[in-house]
Amino acid sequence: MIPPAPRFRHTVKKMKIEILDEVDSTNEYIKRYLATRENVVVSARRQTGGKGTKGRSFLSEEGGVYLSALTFYQNLSSNEAFRIMTHAAVSVCRTAEAFGVSPEIKWPNDVLVSGRKLCGILIENGFCGNRVDHSIVGIGLNVKNDVSELGGIAISLKEIVSQNCTVDEVRNALIANLSAPSDFDSYLSYIWFLGREISVTEGDKTYRAIARRILPDGRLEVQSSCELRALSSAEIKIRL
Ligand code: BTN
Repeated sequence: MIPPAPRFRHTVKKMKIEILDEVDSTNEYIKRYLATRENVVVSARRQTGGKGTKGRSFLSEEGGVYLSALTFYQNLSSNEAFRIMTHAAVSVCRTAEAFGVSPEIKWPNDVLVSGRKLCGILIENGFCGNRVDHSIVGIGLNVKNDVSELGGIAISLKEIVSQNCTVDEVRNALIANLSAPSDFDSYLSYIWFLGREISVTEGDKTYRAIARRILPDGRLEVQSSCELRALSSAEIKIRL
């Protein structure tokens, strides 16, 4: 029996903010602050080598928000590392809502609008024994950039927002939301496919299952025809 999720209050405190015109990847650039142990946010107008999850590249043309936040922790257990990701995803959702958009989270951390990806999140954590020493939260949010070359899987705020928002406004709202607390329940409130049938791919095996719930450790519990399984996002792919 897994105990209920404790309330997680995560706050990015005392942040230095650095804005760049161009960089290869904000997630790579920000690593220079690992030595000084500063909490810092780096944002760039474009990236020449944007990194996505699972070794993929991330299209990063001018018009998007490309931002990384480096945070050091004193006392965060590695069992709670998933909360760094939930906080980032909730911060993005709140930012989208501030511009009149209704976002959803596709577990674990893609933020979608109308089934299309508004934002990707890449998290790189550093551990010290069984605690999280620091995290680099990389967020790529489509604002005015043209994502048509991605063939309809992505969406930009400009396609859905009636007001004319600037990239700087969206970036500032995102930084403010990253700096505010969030909890696991807020994350769950944006998850949209629970109770529905999904297709799960684990290695070379694909099967249908009902998505039941997100466990407090971040795994997805699914019920297939023969068993109840708790799946980790690193090992599987899901589709509706
Ligand atoms: C994904 O959906 O695959 C994650 C994409 C994460 C992209 C952001 S943009 C800012 C930061 N810098 C990077 O190189 N990647 C992340």
